[in-house]
Amino acid sequence: MEEIAEIAFRCFDKSDSGVVICHCRDDLPIIYCNETFCQMTGYDPVEIVGQNCRFLQGEDTSQQVRDAIGLAISEHRRYRIVVRNYRKDGTPFWNDLYLSPIRDDNGTTTHYLGIQNDIESVDRSLRSVPFNFPYDDLTQLPTPPMAVELLKMALERKGLQDHQLCLATITVNGLTLLRGFLNNSAADAAILEIRNRLQAQLQDTCVLARAGDAEFIVAGLVPEGFNARERLEHLCRSVLKPVRINGQHFQLTYNGGFIQKLPVSLIEESVRLCSFALAHARSQSRNTIVEFTHDDVERAWADQTLTGSIPTALEKGEFYCAYQPQLNLITREVIGFEALARWDHPTFGTISPGRFIPLCENSGHINALTLDLLKQIIRDLPKIHDIWGEVDISINLSPLSLVDDEFIQEFIRVAQTSRADNDKISIEVVENLSIDGYDSAAHNLNALKAAGFDIILDDFGTGYSSLSYIRKLGASFVKIDRDFIMNLTPDNQDDLEIIRAVVTLSRQFDFKVIAEGIEKQAQAELLLNEGVLIGQGYFFARPDRLSRLIGSHLISCNTCHNVGLGGDDDLSTSIGHGWQKGPRNAPTVFNAVFNAAQFWDGRAADLAEQAKGPVQAGVEMSSTPSRVVKTLKSIPEYIEHFENAFPGQEDPVTFDNMATAIEAYEATLITPDAPFDHYLRGDQTALNETEKEGLRLFMDRGCTACHSGVNVGGQNYYPFGLVSRPGGEILPEGDKGRFTVTDTASDEYVFRAAPLRNIELTAPYFHSGAVWSLEEAVAVMGTAQLGTELNEGEVDSIVAFLKSLTGNVPEVTYPVLPASTAGTPKPVDMVP
Ligand SMILES: Cc1cc2nc3c(=O)[nH]c(=O)nc-3n(C[C@H](O)[C@H](O)[C@H](O)COP(=O)(O)O)c2cc1C
Repeated sequence: MEEIAEIAFRCFDKSDSGVVICHCRDDLPIIYCNETFCQMTGYDPVEIVGQNCRFLQGEDTSQQVRDAIGLAISEHRRYRIVVRNYRKDGTPFWNDLYLSPIRDDNGTTTHYLGIQNDIESVDRSLRSVPFNFPYDDLTQLPTPPMAVELLKMALERKGLQDHQLCLATITVNGLTLLRGFLNNSAADAAILEIRNRLQAQLQDTCVLARAGDAEFIVAGLVPEGFNARERLEHLCRSVLKPVRINGQHFQLTYNGGFIQKLPVSLIEESVRLCSFALAHARSQSRNTIVEFTHDDVERAWADQTLTGSIPTALEKGEFYCAYQPQLNLITREVIGFEALARWDHPTFGTISPGRFIPLCENSGHINALTLDLLKQIIRDLPKIHDIWGEVDISINLSPLSLVDDEFIQEFIRVAQTSRADNDKISIEVVENLSIDGYDSAAHNLNALKAAGFDIILDDFGTGYSSLSYIRKLGASFVKIDRDFIMNLTPDNQDDLEIIRAVVTLSRQFDFKVIAEGIEKQAQAELLLNEGVLIGQGYFFARPDRLSRLIGSHLISCNTCHNVGLGGDDDLSTSIGHGWQKGPRNAPTVFNAVFNAAQFWDGRAADLAEQAKGPVQAGVEMSSTPSRVVKTLKSIPEYIEHFENAFPGQEDPVTFDNMATAIEAYEATLITPDAPFDHYLRGDQTALNETEKEGLRLFMDRGCTACHSGVNVGGQNYYPFGLVSRPGGEILPEGDKGRFTVTDTASDEYVFRAAPLRNIELTAPYFHSGAVWSLEEAVAVMGTAQLGTELNEGEVDSIVAFLKSLTGNVPEVTYPVLPASTAGTPKPVDMVP
């Protein structure tokens, strides 16, 4: 034991750090100090034993630091801080001081241990402590981390928990010039002057810190309602008052930023928040003050992280091309695709292009991304041509890339050395190129044209177009900005005028017009009326991976209209190509021939027109007319069937004939001889009493107003929720029904009345497929359409009657299809 005590003492005595032990009574007198302490401070033990350690402090020792040490000691806490101290000869040094209470067995503090290190003399790695140099040498202001410590102290001492945290930053501009034209001391004098002006205006719950050569931070605890902008304006105004140096006046300027109304719990984050405000306020124009929010900071931080992962994402192929078809608005044939960049981030999920494109631009990765996409397009082109024929693919070029001569040469080289035919790739450039880059852009666009690329002027109508501009850039296509399409209605004369003007221009200057952002049939029709012949938009197809744009051989009409399942699929909403979920419940194919029009919104006049839709819809079969024809023609048996079915036609294997053939088949899918049919023919026994009661109620209560005719419905359109609109689970808000077809306000939430034959076989019910029991469906109809609460007995009777509408379902022989041949387009994997 004695030996250990001796070793312990030697550890203190010979330690490389200064060690003092003070008694915890009176004024904390020193009872022991080691050799290093004496060497470090220049004092002899006899001079200092019995004294309080504050003799090491002097003129530049901060009062706030003294207070912080005093508080820690009074609370018997461990504490670490860097403090300005002086040696016996008066030279200052930064002392990294560590204090620790020594307690007896009862937990009473009897002594205090102090360990001191002169920061300058210790190893570099030790210096990276959080409180490194807490005070700035020149201004004696705390550094930002120290300011946070001081603020925390104020928070605890003054009990300001009900206050809010407010952070402000001031960047003083003009000091670099002072340093350059005069000298460092002139700039230093200006900084001290500004410090004095700022300090003079601060309240005692605010801390002023120096965050960089010309950067100040004010961190404050303020009461609710504190006007941060006004206070910061005052502070900043004092920067504008000229500073006098060597008899000369100098004008400085500022950039201010602030984040206010932060909870005090965010105090630890202050340094991070301030660095954001400093960096972002600096990029604003001179003498302005910008407010930021905590969300701005979080977003900027997330952007920072995302930007950091761009190189890896490029390397790992996380960016991919999504292709959005462009269609001939008359024939609806696909004539081209726009290739759009998409990013599936392994951690953050799908990042929108609106977010990652600017990040790529700002971080200098946009060229690499563009080349990456170009290579993907070149790789995909043979497959695209195979399916859609000689269609064009367009790629977007950032204005930054467009003015980069070297990049354009590289772009052309990559395209030319590949096997791709340049004619099939077009370049989309935004119309509002900056005036500075104009000449360089025009030069590069000409180089691209000479290399065989077509030019598409994107977002047309939003920039500063002039006729000479269109001509100089040599655009072959102009894409009308989606802003003019979004609200296009027959009454929107302004947008229609702009579209007319562009079409007129296109005739004079010989370019083609494309309309993007088409979301409704009515918009497509209006555009066609105005002479716009090419369109793209969600109405036709969303941009998607190539693999999801090419159909599999698996999804067919029978997938959703299964003749073994009552003519539908027993799902709320159907599953289509790539296992995507469709938006509406599949109506039964049985007796569909008797409906006035097809689809829940009646957008197809007859079965032939209807048959063409799902074949092409990305979410259903995802094929194209040309792919359908190519497939049929690749199989000799089909050619023969078509020749037999359409005798005398020169080329019977067409998309239209495919639809006619399907229509002819569907017309056979009828279910005659339901009990109700027998009853109508005069057989009184065909319905039992409950069914007859149900029929009576069905007629009396007014169900027949909508559900009548041969198909007991399917004849006309009615608003769902005529009397009282059901909730969103039954009537989803986003699906406005026939409104999408007619664009007429009175058609909102209007749907074709469901045909009720075989209704018992086709649950779930309604266009949303949200209701699984026929009883519930009948009750909902009672309240929503008739304003009647049908009682249980009434519901049961009506349901009994509805079941009497189940007819003889045709027996269908499952066909064995002719085999594919080598020329048949290959199916794609539905799981990308
Ligand atoms: C064990 C011990 C060691 C200390 N060492 C130092 C030191 O090296 N430098 C210093 O400035 N203060 C040191 N102090 C702090 C001062 O002695 C004093 O407690 C502090 O200045 C707060 O008290 P005051 O406000 O009454 O001055 C030490 C205190 C203790 C208990």
